[in-house]
Amino acid sequence: MIRCMKLEDYPRLISLWSGFPGNAITEADGPEGFSRFLEANGAFCLVAEDRAGISGSVMAGHDTRRGYVYHLAVRSDCQGAGLGRSLMEAVEKSLAEVGIEKIHLFIYTDNPARAFYERIGWVWRNDIGVMSRTLDRGGGRRG
Ligand SMILES: CC(C)(COP(=O)(O)OP(=O)(O)OC[C@H]1O[C@@H](n2cnc3c(N)ncnc32)[C@H](O)[C@@H]1OP(=O)(O)O)[C@@H](O)C(=O)NCCC(=O)NCCS
Repeated sequence: MIRCMKLEDYPRLISLWSGFPGNAITEADGPEGFSRFLEANGAFCLVAEDRAGISGSVMAGHDTRRGYVYHLAVRSDCQGAGLGRSLMEAVEKSLAEVGIEKIHLFIYTDNPARAFYERIGWVWRNDIGVMSRTLDRGGGRRG
């Protein structure tokens, strides 16, 4: 069963994500960040559940211009049965329905999940890189 993510799922999601090196848990994944993201993007955050608990997750959102996908994960014993594809199809459909034309995701270059994404139709971009800067929450600049 795939359903909308809830605040109460948080501890079990952290546990699921912690099992995969490709699913980096950052400061943005603290309880406050999780709650803020769900509040803004709850319609695009899904979990899959079976008798053993949470079997998969995906968090997605948009800034009205582009969509972004985070924390796609399928519990190891459920992998290879189409759940990752189903979760991605569901969020892609939801984002398309609100008018988002293109979606992006961040992935470590050595993550084997790259082949999964390519299999389900995503395109690896060689023409763009990612630049990052950590901001001081007080509004100043750090580093
Ligand atoms: C990536 C991940 C979500 C895939 O989930 P899954 O449920 O096993 O994937 P599916 O069963 O839906 O696979 C869909 C297709 O992709 C293929 N596929 C899945 N993982 C693959 C891999 N590592 N390499 C190549 N193909 C893969 C499947 O064979 C299937 O192909 P088909 O169209 O011939 O049936 C899962 O492996 C995972 O949770 N990985 C760890 C977390 C992670 O790294 N997430 C990505 C963070 S960016």
